[in-house]
Amino acid sequence: MAPTLENQMTQENEPTSQVEVVPKYKVTVVGSGNWGSVASKLIASNTLKLSSFHDEVKMWVFEETLPTGEKLTEVINQTNENVKYLPGIKLGKNVVADPNIEHAVKDANMLVFVTPHQFMEGICRRLVGKVKPDVKAISLIKGMEVKMEGPCMISTLISDQLGINCCVLMGANIANEIAVEKFSEATVGYREDREVAQRWVRLFSTSYFHVSPVQDVEGVELCGTLKNVVALAAGFVDGLEMGNNTKAAIMRIGLREMKTFSKLMFSTVKDSTFFESCGVADLITTCLGGRNRKVAEAFARNGGKRSFDELEAEMLQGQKLQGVSTARELYEVLSKRGWHELFPLFTTVHDISVGRLPPSAIVEYSEHTPNFSLVEGSAQYY
Ligand SMILES: NC(=O)c1ccc[n+]([C@@H]2O[C@H](COP(=O)([O-])OP(=O)(O)OC[C@H]3O[C@@H](n4cnc5c(N)ncnc54)[C@H](O)[C@@H]3O)[C@@H](O)[C@H]2O)c1
Repeated sequence: MAPTLENQMTQENEPTSQVEVVPKYKVTVVGSGNWGSVASKLIASNTLKLSSFHDEVKMWVFEETLPTGEKLTEVINQTNENVKYLPGIKLGKNVVADPNIEHAVKDANMLVFVTPHQFMEGICRRLVGKVKPDVKAISLIKGMEVKMEGPCMISTLISDQLGINCCVLMGANIANEIAVEKFSEATVGYREDREVAQRWVRLFSTSYFHVSPVQDVEGVELCGTLKNVVALAAGFVDGLEMGNNTKAAIMRIGLREMKTFSKLMFSTVKDSTFFESCGVADLITTCLGGRNRKVAEAFARNGGKRSFDELEAEMLQGQKLQGVSTARELYEVLSKRGWHELFPLFTTVHDISVGRLPPSAIVEYSEHTPNFSLVEGSAQYY
């Protein structure tokens, strides 16, 4: 049987008298928005230094024509900069932008998925049969798909549709801050294969970006996904100028709902995950900065009279809000399961975002908070 790349890579570390050409892992980043571009920069700085990775990092670009008439991909390759989504930051000369997704992924051994979550179903459909069977994937995507049978995490969508192993990377990571190399941390969630998780940790870690592995894919991914809904609540509080105590209260209630929901959905989710960067740290940074908070603040300042779609188009220049669609998807899950009473904050955020309640309702729901304790430390609500 021909040795797999995995076996050959293992042999690389063993002393051997024969000099052999050892294949290197090839990395492709699928996505090139704000975080996708920063992820490519981080990875590209490491592939140059680590002998087990191919220097070149491919980055799939959803092609756009810029106001100058030029193609975004061509400008990235000429200037080494994503002028639309990460202007002013050099990505590394070894980042090669490619507008053809099938071409970009075909030789990759490691695939990094980092697009807004609403595009992932279509992307996976296009990639069926187009990736190497033993390729490893990681998702940096925050969000979920709701299907008839229930919520489907993006890492599960990738694993199921492409038949490949998929880890996740989440954390307190506002892309623009990492782009200028300010210190931060992140969490890699993995299922069983610790060696693969360690390889992702090596690929992403730098002196200013510390990454730790945790064996809890669902917990890590749900933290990253649900905190965007809490960030909308924090933005409403800011827009209404309710002050820091109120915001802290909203964050605490939000964290409790995040934990309860995660444990109800997946009994394997660990309490300790909520204390990792992907948990409380990401919640804090997203509720203090971040685009979901910012647009929700504007929504509340306008008394809910200008829609999120309108504000997103005006304020984000092509970047996408994840919180509003996640709130809607979460609402669907809560409706199907009859869980609205258990999750008053999540429910109220959705009701405000669709105009059913005024922004001020963000602090009124607590009067109706159910009296029983929310599933503390177990998932035995059923
Ligand atoms: N930006 C951050 O600070 C940050 C941090 C952590 C995680 N994330 C997560 O990373 C993911 C990607 O976010 P981002 O900030 O890189 O993107 P972004 O919102 O900055 O950019 C949107 C991207 O979507 C692409 N796009 C537009 N239409 C498309 C289509 N039809 N099909 C495919 N792609 C299309 C655009 O070309 C662009 O690359 C999201 O899940 C987000 O929650 C973002």
